[in-house]
Amino acid sequence: MKIFEALRQDHDKQRALMKVLVDTEGDSAVRADFYKQLKEELTNHATAEERHFYSPLMQEDETVELSRHGVAEHHEIDELLEELDNTDMASSSWLSVMKQLQDKVLHHLEEEEKEFFPQAGKTLSNTEKEQLADGYVNEMQELK
Ligand SMILES: [Fe+2]
Ligand SMILES: [Fe+2]
Repeated sequence: MKIFEALRQDHDKQRALMKVLVDTEGDSAVRADFYKQLKEELTNHATAEERHFYSPLMQEDETVELSRHGVAEHHEIDELLEELDNTDMASSSWLSVMKQLQDKVLHHLEEEEKEFFPQAGKTLSNTEKEQLADGYVNEMQELK
């Protein structure tokens, strides 16, 4: 498996979790449970992705800008998670912040898959793509 496939699998998990979450209501156990899962997925993914995808790309002239951009978006996602943590789940603002987070994450995943992956595909060797996938998958296991 190559790094792009490993990342894409987890992107699909994030999309599915967010889709369920925007249909939940109020201060419910379902909402709390899916939110906990989403938060873990997003934070673990950002950590492992920065280490096993963005970090090697930071070292190449062609991909340093996209890496900075990707990491900056991870921070924006973190800030929205923090805002959600500090918002009452029973209030209507929780859902509106959740929708902002969904928009932000969907945009980010789309940018990674459509722009960053093709560019990174040109810079990394096939061996690197496979080694990075192993490193990423192992780290995601350890973070769980
Ligand atoms: Fe990302
Ligand atoms: Fe990603």
